[in-house]
Amino acid sequence: MDFIVLHGGLSKREELQKHVEKYAELAFEEPTALDAVVKAVVFMEDDPLYNAGTGSNIRVDGSIQMDAAVMVPGDFGAVINIENVKNPVLVALDVMKKSPHMILAGDGAIEFARKLGHAPHNPITAAAVEKRKRTLERLRSGELPEYYNPSFFKEFLGDTVGAVAYINGEFAAAVSTGGTSLTLRGRVGDSPIPGSGIYCGDKGAVVATGIGEEIMRRTLAYRIYSQIGDRPLEEICREEIERFGDIPVGVIAVSENEAAAVSNMIMPHHIVRR
Ligand code: GLY
Repeated sequence: MDFIVLHGGLSKREELQKHVEKYAELAFEEPTALDAVVKAVVFMEDDPLYNAGTGSNIRVDGSIQMDAAVMVPGDFGAVINIENVKNPVLVALDVMKKSPHMILAGDGAIEFARKLGHAPHNPITAAAVEKRKRTLERLRSGELPEYYNPSFFKEFLGDTVGAVAYINGEFAAAVSTGGTSLTLRGRVGDSPIPGSGIYCGDKGAVVATGIGEEIMRRTLAYRIYSQIGDRPLEEICREEIERFGDIPVGVIAVSENEAAAVSNMIMPHHIVRR
């Protein structure tokens, strides 16, 4: 059986669910698992409702820096803190396919993107400006709860996007994010770190969403991947998510015969099988 699973981050906004469903169905028409996950993430990067590509969170200093990654068994590509591109996931794909490297960061990633024809694009939206303003106001007034507080996360942090697929015997994973809000310029989350926010190998593919620092502490994606085949995928994901307690987190995963989406907050997601 073939699968694709998409998630739109941790968010209770109902419109995100409808969009995820549409994008999952469309992306599943692609001929390969890699094409499908990249297409899915491009849809969500181009949709300003999501915290990825256009609509990304704005950092404390007012800049937008984005992370994205793609992974297939034995190969990986990522960009870290890239700016002013429309589709970070397509630059990550070019890093994997057209460079001798696996990860490019900052100015080097932007320069690489331009050389490969990724035109300048300003991902800022009025909603992201407003969100940053509200967050800063609350920070200044001393009202904000601590960074990990789930209620703070629900209002301000979520919406990283990701996709995993198993199509015609091949696995692939892709992820993209504007990072959690508010963060310092230069902060890197779990998404572009292989084994933390993304992992893909011969047994399956896993993508995470949530507070990157905590996901990295636990190398969540590889922990889940390494248990595939030992017991049901859903059970593996549920047990790993339970380890986070109240810290907001979610995962999507596929193996050769299972697909799972598990989170401890509302996570718009959709699984398509055929
Ligand atoms: N999970 C996305 C991030 O922490 O940047």
